[in-house]
Amino acid sequence: MNGKLNASRLALGLIKDGMTIGIGSGSTVEVFLNLLGERIRNEGIVVYGIPSSYQAMLSAIKNGIKIVDLLEMEPEICIDGADQVDSRLNCIKGGGAAMTREKIIAFASKKVVIIVDESKLSEKLTIHVPVEVLPFAYGFVLRELSKICKPSLREGKGKVGPIITDNGNFILDCDFGVLENPEEVENKLKTIPGVIETGIFPSKIIDAVIVGNKKGARVIDRKI
Ligand code: 5RP
Repeated sequence: MNGKLNASRLALGLIKDGMTIGIGSGSTVEVFLNLLGERIRNEGIVVYGIPSSYQAMLSAIKNGIKIVDLLEMEPEICIDGADQVDSRLNCIKGGGAAMTREKIIAFASKKVVIIVDESKLSEKLTIHVPVEVLPFAYGFVLRELSKICKPSLREGKGKVGPIITDNGNFILDCDFGVLENPEEVENKLKTIPGVIETGIFPSKIIDAVIVGNKKGARVIDRKI
């Protein structure tokens, strides 16, 4: 928890009165939103937010952030978590099945800052890649994916059968082993009809990663 808290504290300094922010999802973002809520209450600042999931929306409302739509506002900064970050700042996201809206918001934002605890750092990306799939296309996409990786349908906890995303779709968690070239895999996945989005966030859309640990936090800026 300390790592998430310290990363969130550092990210909090990036938020200014009147800003519109893109809001990612997950437990680290939740910590960040709770801190931002304290600032809103104590300092009386106004923050507008575009949430990437129902979880993010509920937490943002609870913390006094004014919810707006991409039609009205362009986020100045997007704050999001990640499941794994490699040494070039490529990320895998979607542990909370929210990566489709997260990616739209990231692309729509002027700046993207990822907040993680140290355990998320890895030299290379190695964890399963979540792929959001239109249920109608499931059988076809499963066969196509099986040619290039080991896909498995994500099952619900507290619900029988597949989990259904906030967009009404399935998630296939895909084992590619070590991802040597994340952007190439991302491009290949996006050519399959029925694939809505993937959890690969190439480093080119990430401006900085804030890494927290027990003692504090540091910023890693993208170099290329
Ligand atoms: C949700 C995400 C989250 O950002 C990611 O899973 C990290 O979550 P947490 O901060 O709880 O570890 O991509 O789809």
